Amino acid sequence: MFRLPLSIVLLIASSGQLSVAEDPVSYAQAIAPFLEEHCIACHDDGFETSDLAVHDLAAMLKGGRRGPSIVPGKASESLLIQYLKGIKQPQMPPKTSLPLDQIAVLERWINEGAKVDEGSVVTQRREQMRKQATEEAATFASDAPPPITSLSYRPDGEVVAVAGYREVILIDAATGKTIRRLAGFSEQVMAVAFSPDGRHLAGAGGTPGRGGEIRIWETQGWAETKVIRGHADVILSVAWRPKSDQIASAGLDRLIIVWDGATGKPIRTLKHHSDIVNTLAYSPDGKRLASGSADKTAKVFDAETGLQTAGLSTHNDSVLQVAFSPDGLHLATASADRGMAVWRLADLKNPIRGFGHTGPVHALAWRPDGTSLWAGSGGKPSFLSYKFENGNRVVDIKDSAMPVDWVYAVAVSPDNLSVAAGGWDGTLNIYSLKDGSKLRSIVPGGDSR
Ligand code: HEC
Repeated sequence: MFRLPLSIVLLIASSGQLSVAEDPVSYAQAIAPFLEEHCIACHDDGFETSDLAVHDLAAMLKGGRRGPSIVPGKASESLLIQYLKGIKQPQMPPKTSLPLDQIAVLERWINEGAKVDEGSVVTQRREQMRKQATEEAATFASDAPPPITSLSYRPDGEVVAVAGYREVILIDAATGKTIRRLAGFSEQVMAVAFSPDGRHLAGAGGTPGRGGEIRIWETQGWAETKVIRGHADVILSVAWRPKSDQIASAGLDRLIIVWDGATGKPIRTLKHHSDIVNTLAYSPDGKRLASGSADKTAKVFDAETGLQTAGLSTHNDSVLQVAFSPDGLHLATASADRGMAVWRLADLKNPIRGFGHTGPVHALAWRPDGTSLWAGSGGKPSFLSYKFENGNRVVDIKDSAMPVDWVYAVAVSPDNLSVAAGGWDGTLNIYSLKDGSKLRSIVPGGDSR
């Protein structure tokens, strides 16, 4: 009997649409986004809408004034379906009716028992983002700074870009003063990256369940040169390909898309990950693209052809960061399993080193001289550096000077003199790489609000 090699079978299985017909309907991927899009605006637990809230399963089981909206296993007896189909009036959502095939997905989910895929990373990520959005809305209102999710130094070292709430903030690296605020995003910006030639800056983010966006500015007058849309969900990472105009993006929709940064047109889409893609990086020579995913793997692609050249599995949890060493010989990976690994590009079968952190490693950066790695997490202490040679800790930062909250972003200055860290508390801390002393602690944009 003719048999396809397993790798090809897997490729076929993962290259089509997300769900095969027999797969149960996923609450996180199909139902929550649907309710968010069509119902949440009105059904937020209000008297006028019959006290029905739809933000989670418990609220729908409790239902509104007419009782539970959902009867698990019995779509036809569920008020929610009856109102959507117009069997009960007024038909929902009022004044418009939804396509029957969309209602059918909801019916199937209820008939399958109305299960919430709680353990799934997509659900966790969605809940985390919802929590973050709510907390952000609160902090925004109370004027507290939003979390810092990403940082990038311009290659000349003079400017640091900081991802903020609905904007990218540019900081003068020498003085800590805000130079400019680049607005236009609808939600939290998740990633910022200067192009290796320093001529462009990209920021990326999106609206959960709706779509992702990349904005590109030129770095002389900071005019916006491009807005790229194409992902179906929030973008978590962007990377510029050295010596080209190409930019790659990836995020919650599990896809990696490579774009022509000048025209904004997609060049290719890589569908190799079976879960959220957290991080992307190009090798310094621009020949390889690396990715890290919630599917617990990192992957390496030939940047020219888009073909996968290696799959790296050593981590027991989501891979949150990938970073090439400045000489292009090594790749470092960091994971929610609290571990980091360094791999030799010439032989990617097994990592050559492993390091442990105190919590999930959200941030990772090489020193430009390649001698050590900086990593940030939510553990205590949260911000550590390791010597590349032997994994020993180097340049200890005093506990009293440590970031007080989760570290989500770290960047080492191109002159090798300082390292910047930012995270949940919204402060940007800059440390001396000589002795670990804190050089500066600023709230990006705080001086220009
Ligand atoms: C524009 C506002 C609006 C939107 C959008 C909307 N609803 Fe409603 N919904 C209402 C109002 C108002 C009522 C109360 C009607 C009544 O009691 O006569 C209601 C009632 C209901 C009820 C009956 C609850 C009970 O126990 O009485 C269900 C079920 C329902 N909506 C489901 C949905 C679903 C599912 C969606 C999204 C697909 C949706 N609605 C979108 C305004 C809205």
